[in-house]
Amino acid sequence: MTTEPIYKTDALIAEDIDAYLEQHQHKTMLRFITCGSVDDGKSTLIGRLLYDSKMIFEDQLDALANDSKKVGTQGQEIDFALLVDGLAAEREQGITIDVAYRFFNTEKRKFIVADCPGHEQYTRNMVTGASTADLAVVMIDARKGVLVQTRRHSYLCNLIGIRNIVLAVNKMDLVDYSQEVFDKIVADYAKFAEEIGIESFTAMPISGFKGDNITVAPSENTPWYEGPSLIEHLETVEVLNAQDAEKPFRMPVQWVNRPNLDFRGFSGQIATGAVKPGDAVRVLPSGKTSHVRSIVTYGGDLDEAVAGQSVTLTLTDEIDCSRGNVIAVADNPPEVADQFEATVVWMDDEPLLPGRGYWLKLGTQTVSAAIAEPKYEINVNTLERLAAKTLGLNAIGVAEVTTDKPLVFEPYADSRTLGGFILIDKVTNATVAAGMLHFSLRRSQNVHWQAVDITREEHARLKNQTPKVLWFTGLSGSGKSTIANEVEKRLNLMNRHTFLLDGDNIRHGLNKDLGFTDADRVENIRRVGEVARLMTDAGLIVLTAFISPFRAERQMVRDLLPEGEFVEIFVDTPLEVAEERDVKGLYKKAREGKLKNFTGIDSPYEAPENAEIRVNTVEMTPQEAAAYIIDRIMPLK
Ligand code: ADX
Repeated sequence: MTTEPIYKTDALIAEDIDAYLEQHQHKTMLRFITCGSVDDGKSTLIGRLLYDSKMIFEDQLDALANDSKKVGTQGQEIDFALLVDGLAAEREQGITIDVAYRFFNTEKRKFIVADCPGHEQYTRNMVTGASTADLAVVMIDARKGVLVQTRRHSYLCNLIGIRNIVLAVNKMDLVDYSQEVFDKIVADYAKFAEEIGIESFTAMPISGFKGDNITVAPSENTPWYEGPSLIEHLETVEVLNAQDAEKPFRMPVQWVNRPNLDFRGFSGQIATGAVKPGDAVRVLPSGKTSHVRSIVTYGGDLDEAVAGQSVTLTLTDEIDCSRGNVIAVADNPPEVADQFEATVVWMDDEPLLPGRGYWLKLGTQTVSAAIAEPKYEINVNTLERLAAKTLGLNAIGVAEVTTDKPLVFEPYADSRTLGGFILIDKVTNATVAAGMLHFSLRRSQNVHWQAVDITREEHARLKNQTPKVLWFTGLSGSGKSTIANEVEKRLNLMNRHTFLLDGDNIRHGLNKDLGFTDADRVENIRRVGEVARLMTDAGLIVLTAFISPFRAERQMVRDLLPEGEFVEIFVDTPLEVAEERDVKGLYKKAREGKLKNFTGIDSPYEAPENAEIRVNTVEMTPQEAAAYIIDRIMPLK
C-alpha cells in the first residue's frame, strides 16, 4: 500500500535522512506504529524514546526545557510530549492530528515510528501509518484499562496485517506500579485479542513520563516484571521480512531497464521469497516462462536475492514483460483475476459511489475498478456487521471489486504487496480508500471472451461508416433529446446507420429499476455506455441523450471506446433558462419539494471541461444546433 509520508523534522532535518539511512545501513530496520487514545501518553513515550536514543539535537532540548516551563509541567521532568506535538494546531487542540514519521536508532537497529492519532475520525491516518509497519505499540492508560479505542486500534492493526503487537500499559506510576492492575488489564486484553484473531502479543508495564521499563528492565518500581524493556524488545523482535523470505518468490516489475540493445533487465523490489540465477520463473499475467540469467545490482551481480531487496533480473529468453507485470516462481505463481472480494477502508469526505470507476493501484499495477454496494459495514467499536449502501469517511466494509483488466494478486493475508491496494478518484486524484483483497470470485475465472470472426471492423465496413458515439449531456430540459433527434434525422438523410438512446425511453425499459440517487445515475450511465459500445461494435453511429451529470462516468464511457469514437456534446443551457422552459413541469415540482434529487436543484451537474462540441441553446435554435454539430463531425467517413 502506498502512503504519503509527512516527514516532520523534529528529530532530523529532511536532507539528513539519506545520510542517516546510509550511515546505519548495516543495521536492520524496524517500522512501528504507536496507537492510543488522546491522552494515553503516546507523545510522551515517543519523545522519551527519541531522547533516550540521543536523537534530539541540543538546540531542541533547550527549546523544550523552555516550553515545558511555560506550560507548567509539574516537577523537574522535561515534557517529552512537547517535542512530538510540534505543530501549533496540535498543541491548541491537545491532540496529535496527522501521521508523523520519525527516525531514530540505537546501537542495534534503526527505527521509523509512525505516530497516529487515536481519535475515531482518524481511522484514515491510522491505516496510513499502519500500512508499512512491522509492529504496533498499543498504549493503554493503566488507570483506565482496555477501552473501546484500544479495541478499535487493535482491530485495525490486525486488519492491516501487523502481527507483532506490544501492549504498553502506561502510566504505571499513577497506579503505584500495581501488579494486580497490570495483570487484570493483560487478562482483559487477552480475551479480546483472541476474539479478533490476534494470536499473540507482548505486554509490558511502563511509564513514559518517569521512564520505567523503557530502556532498562526491570525497573526498580516493577520488580515483579520479568520481560524486556520496550527498547530491548524493539531491538530484538523478529521483523516480518524474515517470514516473507520463506514465501514463494514474487517480484512486481517497477520498470524495464534497457540502456542498449544488448541489455534488458526487469527492476523491482522482491515482495516475497528468494531468487537465484537458473531459477525457472513465470511472468504474470501472460504466464510466459523463462529462467533467471543474472541478478544485477549497483554493487555487482548476486548469487541470491531475497524479499525486501531491490534488484534487476535478466532472463534467458526474450519474453514480453513490462511495468505492472509480476515475475514469480514458475511452478507456484500468484493468481490472476478481475473480480474479488475485499475489505475497503474509506478515507475520503465524499462517500463511495458504488459502480463508479476509480483507479486501483496494487503494487506497480494500475487499473480501473468499480466497487459494488457493500455486503456489510463493520462497526469498528463493536465489530458488528451492519447493512450499508455505501461507505462514508473512515468506514470499513466488505464489498466486491471488479477491475477492467486482470490483476496479478495474492490474498492480503499472504502478501501485503500483492494483496493491498489503494483507490484514487479519477477526477480529483485524491486517494479515497485503502483495501485488502480476500480472494477472487470464481465467476471471473469461468467467464471467458468468445472470439468472433465478424469483427467490429467488418460490421463498420459493410455500413460504409466509422462508428461513433455522439454523447449529449446537459441539464434536464436543456434540449438534448430535441437536438439529438434533429441530428439523427439529418444523418439518416445522409444514409448513415444510426440509433438514438434517449434517457426517458431507456428508463422505461432496460433501466426501469433505477432511480435518481447518485449511485443509480452511475449505474444508468454504465449500462448505457455498455449498450452504446455494443452498438458501435455493430457498426452504428449512436446518439445518446442523458443528463449524465458526473464527469467520472462520462470519462468511463469515453474509456470504453477506441480513441476518437466518443464525441462529447455539451448542450449548454443555463439553469434559469431550462427552469423557465420547464417542458415537463419537473422543475416546479422540485422547487416545491415534491421531487427529490433533481439535477441542478438538489443534485449536482458537473459541466464538461473539454467537450468536443458545445452548443449554446440560448443563441441557437435546435435546427441551427444540429447543423452546427453535423458540421463539426464531418467528414463522416
Ligand atoms: S441521468 O442523470 O441518470 O443521466 P437521465 O438522463 O437518465 O438522468 O434521466 C433524466 C430524465 O428523467 C429527465 O429529463 C427527467 O425527465 C426525468 N427525471 C425524473 N426525476 C428526475 C430527477 N430527480 N433528476 C433529473 N431528472 C429526473
